[in-house]
Amino acid sequence: MSWLKKHEKIERNFTLMAVLALLVVTVGGIVEIAPLFYLKNTIEKVKGVRPYSPLELLGRNIYIREGCYSCHSQMIRPMRDEVERYGHYSLAAESMYDHPFQWGSKRTGPDLARVGGLYADEWHRDHMRDPRSVVPESIMPAYPFLEKRELKYKDIAEHLKAQVRVGVPYTEEMIKLAVADLETQANPAEGDLAGLLKRYPKAQARVFDGKPGRITELDAMIAYLQVLGTMVDFKDYDAKKHLR
Ligand code: HEC
Repeated sequence: MSWLKKHEKIERNFTLMAVLALLVVTVGGIVEIAPLFYLKNTIEKVKGVRPYSPLELLGRNIYIREGCYSCHSQMIRPMRDEVERYGHYSLAAESMYDHPFQWGSKRTGPDLARVGGLYADEWHRDHMRDPRSVVPESIMPAYPFLEKRELKYKDIAEHLKAQVRVGVPYTEEMIKLAVADLETQANPAEGDLAGLLKRYPKAQARVFDGKPGRITELDAMIAYLQVLGTMVDFKDYDAKKHLR
């Protein structure tokens, strides 16, 4: 076993071992990382995925502010138990406009990647106000203040501009009409609903918190929760076509 003897030489010589290990890691690293610089895009576009509407985006901000990600993930892995519980596994494209992404690393509560449409707005209202009122064994904290706080949104256009800088394709028009679009989505009776739907296809527009007249943080939060995982219509999505 002469090669074993040779290897013993390497193992006994610390410097040689370190140099060779470094060489192996470098080659492996280059092979993995270098192609990424030559690919135009590492995320495949999927039909239906659009940037968040202004109201959804602010709901997302509150989600981050309140640290919901510390108990909830937003990524369904392609394993059978997950897919059976939560629905179709998450596609990279579904979080392509998430800055920062909300995949999360801990599930004290369930994954929320496809919570949109799973419950009625009323359920979310009760659940945010007092989780135990709808799920008696819940250990989730209550967020009763969301329905009391008015949503601050006068600077939403600036927020959209910031998103543009990190690659989200909001147009000039979307930025100019951000405040109006936000108000329309939370109160579609007064506002340009057709325009909102043109800019943000399939956006759900209604009085999410049940109280017309003022736009609260709860409006934004529920609008955000209700859009999660609903942008891609999986009847249109052919997984085989995307496998290479
Ligand atoms: C301390 C951990 C914790 C935090 C923080 C937390 N949750 Fe939860 N959440 C849970 C648990 C546990 C459940 C399951 C029981 C229940 O439905 O209340 C849950 C359930 C949910 C559900 C229902 C999901 C389903 O599929 O039934 C939603 C929606 C939700 N949480 C939203 C939020 C939002 C929004 C926030 C931040 C404002 C948040 N949670 C913060 C623990 C947490």
